[in-house]
Amino acid sequence: MIKNKYGYFTDDYREYVITDPKTPRPWFNYIWNKDFAGLISHTGGGFSFLETPRDNRLTRMRYNCLPWDRPGRYVMVKDVKSGEYRSLSWAPTIDKHYDEYECRHGQGYTSIKTKFLGISGKITYFVPRETNAEVWRVSLKNMTDEVKELEIYSFAELMMGNALNDIINQPNDKHFTDINFDKANNTLIATRRYWVLNKKVSVEQPNLDWKYHLLFTSTLPVTGFDGSLDKFIGRWRSEANPEAVERGEMFNTEITAGDPVVALQNKIKLDPGEGVEFAIIMGVAPKNEEDAAFKYQHLDWSNLKEISKLDGLFGEVKEYWNGYLSHFSVETPDEKINASLNVWNQYQAAVTFDMARNSGYYHGGLLFGNGIRDQFQDILGMLLPEPGRVKARMLNALKYQFSDGSTLHNFFKITEWGEKTNHSDTPLWIPFGITEYLNETGDLTILNEVVKFYDEGEATVYEHTARALDFAISAVSERGLPKIMNGDWNDTLDKVGPRGKGETIWGAFFLGYVIKKTLPLLGLMNDQKRIKDWSEAYVKMEKLINEVAWDGEWYIRAFNDFMEPLGTHKSEQGKIFINAQSWAIISGMAPEDRAKLCLESVKKHLLKPDGIQICWPSYTKVEENTGLISRCVPGKKENGAIFNHASSWFVMASIVAGDIDSAVDIYKRMLPANSSERIDTYEVEPYVFAEYVTSPDHPTEGQASHSWLTGTAVWMLRIGMDQIFGFKPEISGITIDPVLPSYWDGFRAKRKFRGCELDLTVKRAAAGETSGLYLNGSPVENNFIPAENLTQDRALQLTYLV
Ligand code: GLC
Repeated sequence: MIKNKYGYFTDDYREYVITDPKTPRPWFNYIWNKDFAGLISHTGGGFSFLETPRDNRLTRMRYNCLPWDRPGRYVMVKDVKSGEYRSLSWAPTIDKHYDEYECRHGQGYTSIKTKFLGISGKITYFVPRETNAEVWRVSLKNMTDEVKELEIYSFAELMMGNALNDIINQPNDKHFTDINFDKANNTLIATRRYWVLNKKVSVEQPNLDWKYHLLFTSTLPVTGFDGSLDKFIGRWRSEANPEAVERGEMFNTEITAGDPVVALQNKIKLDPGEGVEFAIIMGVAPKNEEDAAFKYQHLDWSNLKEISKLDGLFGEVKEYWNGYLSHFSVETPDEKINASLNVWNQYQAAVTFDMARNSGYYHGGLLFGNGIRDQFQDILGMLLPEPGRVKARMLNALKYQFSDGSTLHNFFKITEWGEKTNHSDTPLWIPFGITEYLNETGDLTILNEVVKFYDEGEATVYEHTARALDFAISAVSERGLPKIMNGDWNDTLDKVGPRGKGETIWGAFFLGYVIKKTLPLLGLMNDQKRIKDWSEAYVKMEKLINEVAWDGEWYIRAFNDFMEPLGTHKSEQGKIFINAQSWAIISGMAPEDRAKLCLESVKKHLLKPDGIQICWPSYTKVEENTGLISRCVPGKKENGAIFNHASSWFVMASIVAGDIDSAVDIYKRMLPANSSERIDTYEVEPYVFAEYVTSPDHPTEGQASHSWLTGTAVWMLRIGMDQIFGFKPEISGITIDPVLPSYWDGFRAKRKFRGCELDLTVKRAAAGETSGLYLNGSPVENNFIPAENLTQDRALQLTYLV
């Protein structure tokens, strides 16, 4: 069993069970469908939103608040006789005694069980697949031999609308809220008369109505309600001791203006041993005509009022995730790899696909929207289960490309606004993503879809893709290396090239890699001119880099506007950067002897117990012509942390260079179940990857941060799937090319590809056997299975002898 002092994975890895609520940080999960989303901690904390966490935030979570995750979705149970009460999710009544506590984070739901005051309670939070609502499903049981009279108080603090405005202009914003109680339907109906749909922070006041009603109801008869937060909580109190709960009676407030809460009271009586099942539902529906609240298109309220129907909707959530997880699985000798790849890594990939870097405890959801470079990477996990959604996602993102091939850096849904920051790598992620889609699906029709440019004109997806590369190939310095401009993948190298002269060596390797990856597509389109131009560009760059960017034992990372090198042994700080080494190898641009030296140098200087440090030594002095990296404290974030996204690329490079034992060893170090071994130091969720783990260059070595929303998720998944387990999809079929570290005897991996299940067993060749791929005992030529041999719903039993 994989466990630490706060919790463990269940045997099938499908749930992470938290047994001690006093975790070093709130440990979160997500409940969501494609429009309605919520973040939920193991104490019930977190917020919900519709479509975007900035423009349509529904409930409040206060950032920079202590305790960390307040408020949330709370249901309090009060024993009338003693006057004592407890929240079913532990918070906010954390100072009171609980006999038992257990939280289970699963895929798309979180379930918290508690025992207190002779009552056993369970609350499960989930969002139905097709309804824009969240359900708080409750079971209570009287464990005593006395009759219990109970009062139930369920509540959530509302925001409704622009979350940024809520922070900077809340005293004004509160003049536009209305909450009324619909008696016939037992439902609080809340809305806002005003919607600040500004593209950025501005004093401009748009004349817009918030388009929704928020509905809050209970399946039990309602005995009281409140819409006024002030009244419900009372003066000089907090959500831990609301006045309404203490006095046992709601104030029945409806508000027009004021701080909004939705709070309901129910009263029940339980005989000894008796239980009750009910649910609290918070939904959102478009504001149509008057009193249409219960016929909304997207909220089939009738489905939500019956417990059995609600349980059916929960069943659909479980079914969805069973299906989602059925596309890839492994059986390896390493339990932690199995836990990660079979469940949590795949699940985290889905979360990054839907949340971007934009809604979490570490990502407030106000600033970034969707990053173009992030979007075209985050599709990597969703490609197998939902290629249709990936296609739609990419077609949408292409709208933010300019006709010269360059792109915005990020964009926001709804307002369709974004910023052009001139990061040099961003356009290149378009061909990266499009080729991944083509390789997975073989669906060439996407290439003919026509998408508008952000400035003017429109073109086919093929042309969008090709122009991104044309742009990158043309955006080079006089001597022919890519200009870094305002940064590359590493956002904090932002002052290396703002004057338009600085060069990125990592970017050159990355460009080379993307050229090579896209050439088969050009061949298919018979785009002879580009084949010629791009191939020439590759060869020229390869030669040049090896002339100017070799530092003796590794590659230089960049040259700034004054042609000073970054990432050289001659510097005092930032001597060596991981990305330049990994991608020298991945791109195929490093000759064999240099590739070997790169691997050795990285292992010598950057390999740490939790993975690979992004650069070393971390910056301790500010370098004006390098950028933010040098202002960040040493050992954290891009300034010398174990930055998992970059660390994962080194695993890939090691496999490409044939150093399999190191590759799998580093892969294992990086697994959250391993890097979190010192959990009180590590602090964050041990079931998902964090963006970084603090390196020895900082006194809090081993502390992780920015869990959940990181490109690490999809890369660790795909490096496992493609590089270790060896499933390498191409437009015309799939190559099977697994690797086996010396400390493993073999493994089994199953992957769906074009509707066919590939069931692969990998083992060592015995004496006299020839290594390679076998199908039903016969060798497979070039280890390649052409697409025409892969028929829907077929299963192929494959054996690979290493
Ligand atoms: C963050 C950003 C990503 C960037 C990385 C490194 O993860 O979302 O776009 O590449 O940091 O700076």
